[in-house]
Amino acid sequence: MLKGKHIILGVTGSIAAYKAAVLCRLFVSAGAEVRVVMTPLAKQFVTPLTMATLAKHPVLVEFFNPENGEWNSHVSLGEWADCMVIAPATANTLAKMACGVADNLLLTTYLSAKCHVAVAPAMDLDMYAHAATQRNLAQLRRDGVYVIEPEQGELASGLVGKGRMAEPAHIVKEVDAFLGSETLAGRRFVVTAGATIEAIDPVRYISNHSTGKMGYAVAAELAARGASVTLVSGRTALAVPEGVDRVDVVSAEEMYNAAVEAFAEADGAVMCAAVADYTPVTVADEKIKKGDADMSIPLRRTKDIAAELGRVKGGRLLVGFALETDSGAANAREKLERKNLDFIVLNSLRDAGAGFGCDTNVVSLIDAVSCVELPLMSKREVAARIVDRMEKLLN
Ligand code: CTP
Repeated sequence: MLKGKHIILGVTGSIAAYKAAVLCRLFVSAGAEVRVVMTPLAKQFVTPLTMATLAKHPVLVEFFNPENGEWNSHVSLGEWADCMVIAPATANTLAKMACGVADNLLLTTYLSAKCHVAVAPAMDLDMYAHAATQRNLAQLRRDGVYVIEPEQGELASGLVGKGRMAEPAHIVKEVDAFLGSETLAGRRFVVTAGATIEAIDPVRYISNHSTGKMGYAVAAELAARGASVTLVSGRTALAVPEGVDRVDVVSAEEMYNAAVEAFAEADGAVMCAAVADYTPVTVADEKIKKGDADMSIPLRRTKDIAAELGRVKGGRLLVGFALETDSGAANAREKLERKNLDFIVLNSLRDAGAGFGCDTNVVSLIDAVSCVELPLMSKREVAARIVDRMEKLLN
């Protein structure tokens, strides 16, 4: 699926740079066009000749060629690429990326790149675990960089732990997935997203703080993998993701009707919306005038959309979300069963970087037998993990 893709392979000064040669070769044999950018130190670990031979193109290291003054344009390189993969990424380069330092061609290319960027960290276990490195990785995730987690294992120092660069074949698989290979072509999904609005009168309403970002990220991820997506969306300020069919709704009732209708034709659904649980029994035609006395508004329960899809789903896939402030996993499992979900994504408002309006999230994927806690990641990366799990279940 990498056929014809333009990949910038950034190589930094780590002992794992020898694996960059294998990675380059795998990208090229998958049909990608590769341009290699190395930091000056990386040249000490793997030669430009090796990398240039494998990439079938000269390697770029300096801003210009000192022999003839030819300029290596990081801007046009950034525009050319579908994806920039920095592997291995040292603690030093990660720190500079997180801060926007631009003191070599690899970094200026990163800052100019408009494409997807992935990093495959490689370093000693203590450097990887250090608060500064973790802070930099969290910042990069917030900036939309995809982090290909290092592996546990024996390190160059002789120590054993987490920090070894992911194997080249694994990096290719991850890049393939996030570049949107069409692994879900021919599949159809419904995604609900955003908050519903329950009118009290023509002026007031009941709603919540959901911005729809998580649901939009899931819809974008499904579409990027070739699925047809109907996004049933409450009011949000977000743009419709590429290739997604959006149905705009306002109330829980409208969302219910649109989701049930779209589900009839679908292979599955992901219920990301923050649906109001209660709606006013009646909606006043005129603006309600205030009086001196206190007032209360009678509310009735809305229909549970996820539970209804769970009731009719048969062999189809159904994923729900839960937002808990305490007893998270136990409450989430109860919902999983009650709504007949295949798995549920639990987010806790307690975690820094999670919740309404953030571009990042901290979630656990919970099913009847397992609970996988994911680290802080961008919502798009969370969406990719959710869709990975869906793909596994579909296959
Ligand atoms: N959901 C739905 N229709 C509703 C209510 C919820 O489809 N009327 C879906 C949500 O999109 C989400 C899951 O059900 O996938 C959340 O379940 P819910 O019971 O609403 O739990 P929470 O909102 O997490 O919290 P609480 O249990 O406190 O209501």
